[in-house]
Amino acid sequence: MKQKITLLPTRRSVIEASLVAGAAVTLVSCGSGDKAQDLPESTGTATDAIDAAKLPVQGTASVTVDGRGYLLYRPDESTVLAYTSVCTHQGCKVGTGSGEVFECPCHGSQFSKTDGSVAQGPAKKSLARFAAAIEGDKVKIYL
Ligand code: FES
Repeated sequence: MKQKITLLPTRRSVIEASLVAGAAVTLVSCGSGDKAQDLPESTGTATDAIDAAKLPVQGTASVTVDGRGYLLYRPDESTVLAYTSVCTHQGCKVGTGSGEVFECPCHGSQFSKTDGSVAQGPAKKSLARFAAAIEGDKVKIYL
């Protein structure tokens, strides 16, 4: 006669499994490398970023305002888009890139110039966008 044996996990095996799962989650978190943005809360204050003449239509620029880096893209005569230049992967400074994307020199992430979304990883999060406008002869970012 066969006897049905059910193997129940011991208390020790449950604890060990939990520790292994926790370690795996920790490794996955470290592996993705996504870095929380360290940006100031927007106060809505218009801050001069660059002379408008230095940002031609279809042009990009990398600027520093109040000690923080930003990327600018001017898709047409009257529109300017502004993003942080802090890469969402591991915090390197994203460059102005070429074509349709900003490029991070550290691990090759690319971000759309039109909305800051990830065009190529390893970054998984979009670049934070800031309001910007051309006012007179200046490009202003609203910080
Ligand atoms: S820091 Fe790794 S791709 Fe930008």
